[in-house]
Amino acid sequence: MYIIHIASECAPIAKVGGLADVVFGLANESETRGHMVEIILPKYDNMWYDQIWGLHEIYHDLWVPWGGGAVPCTVWFGFVHGRKCFFIDAHSSENFFNRGAFYGFWDDNHRFAFFSKAALEFLYKSGRRPDVLHCHDWQTGLVPVMLYEIYQQRGLTEQRVCFTVHNFRHQGLAGEDLLWKTGLDYPDRYFQEERLQDPRHSGALNMIKGGIVYSNFVSTVSPKHAWEARFTDQGFGLGHTLHVHQDKFGGILNGIDYDHWNPATDPMVPVPFDPDTLDRKAENKQILRHRFFLRDHEGPLFGFVGRLDTQKGVHLVRHALFHAIAHGAQFVLLGTSPERGTAEYFWHLKGFMNDNQDSHLELGYSEQLAHLIYAGADIVVVPSMYEPCGLAQMIAMRYGSVPLVRSVGGLVDTVFDWDHSDRPIEERNGFVFDHADYPGLESAMDRVIGLWHGRPDLFRQLQLQAMASDNSWAQAGAHYLNVYEAIRHR
Ligand code: ADP
Ligand code: GLC
Repeated sequence: MYIIHIASECAPIAKVGGLADVVFGLANESETRGHMVEIILPKYDNMWYDQIWGLHEIYHDLWVPWGGGAVPCTVWFGFVHGRKCFFIDAHSSENFFNRGAFYGFWDDNHRFAFFSKAALEFLYKSGRRPDVLHCHDWQTGLVPVMLYEIYQQRGLTEQRVCFTVHNFRHQGLAGEDLLWKTGLDYPDRYFQEERLQDPRHSGALNMIKGGIVYSNFVSTVSPKHAWEARFTDQGFGLGHTLHVHQDKFGGILNGIDYDHWNPATDPMVPVPFDPDTLDRKAENKQILRHRFFLRDHEGPLFGFVGRLDTQKGVHLVRHALFHAIAHGAQFVLLGTSPERGTAEYFWHLKGFMNDNQDSHLELGYSEQLAHLIYAGADIVVVPSMYEPCGLAQMIAMRYGSVPLVRSVGGLVDTVFDWDHSDRPIEERNGFVFDHADYPGLESAMDRVIGLWHGRPDLFRQLQLQAMASDNSWAQAGAHYLNVYEAIRHR
């Protein structure tokens, strides 16, 4: 099969969150299984160019129709850790992808609508005829819409689309002007409840809804979240749309790239280890402590790595920090926040906690430190308000760190509570709490701290069980390939 991913992120070159890991990991897995896979991305100025091999221009003068005129683009090609990637380089006064950041601009919806249009135009003009287009999140929601409304008549008749929603909160709302820009010229057609009209603002178009309505298959990134998106407020207004399209909607649990995330071979782990040499993890803990100026300590070390976004339960993260240091433990945090108020709060907290030798906050993005924390922490907390899948808990487990998570979304599908799970004891791999409040979090933290001090042998067994959990791409890769096969013949 010939599969092309169209996405706004791909690890490690353009990564904001888990979307990037998934695009790379799934492309990798499908290629390993013998399929031909390519990835189309914007050519951002702030990518990690040193991770792209053999970057060169392969298509000049790609004129992309846009708002009655056309924008000239160049398409570049390069390998990202063996994966074939195309990069759309737009030469326009809007300067779509040369802004020093991936997201966060007032015209993001136009930037990514343009990217979607350019990706299709590139396929059309360069004669690429994949069997399946795999699109991700609101940024590429218009791909299936334009494919069926515009490019099908121009000969792209065989292509089928799998659309994966990684986050329902960000939907890509736009006005009528976007229709004129993209060539979807009939507002009356698209401002319909059964097409792109936003369910909450009737005067707005909803790009992710377009992706759901027009794709051949729609997935989200865990079975539990597929249910939550349909039946709870976690669909952020799209529950009805998902209900209408329930026959082509399902949850497929993500994996993580087991070659990249491997404590035995990871160059960013100072002292490599595996289940047979788990004792060496303690040396990484010591290095992590010294890196963050923490004192030597008998207790467990908690870690948090992630976006400091309300989604991640920032108030619970903060509380976990205070609870840990008040109860004989230590806490390290690595994160950035797109929300100004949250960012300022954590900078304030950092200043305030600076002298505490049992905690450290690192406010920034660092692959190196993320790997060191996963390798050195004893427990990784993920107290999310909602979590479509979550990769942090899977990575933690791979590195022998016990996950302590809230029972939402993909966290429910991957972490099984040491004391209360209905799974067999040997499959239990972490700690889970239900309510998004302090007592819920504290009781789980107290249980894990108690196990650490009271039964170190069992804590070690739990670490080994976490490491034995299979979160590789093997299962999810097979699942997606079945989906591709099924829609291909539709
Ligand atoms: P989300 O996609 O919602 O942010 P996930 O758990 O799916 O959450 O994926 C987050 C990914 O981004 C993980 O690989 C995590 O290690 C990484 N990450 C998040 N914040 C940072 C940071 N500040 N520095 C380095 N890596 C980070
Ligand atoms: C999103 C979700 C996260 C998921 C990731 C990859 O960013 O917030 O839960 O793991 O996408 O699918």
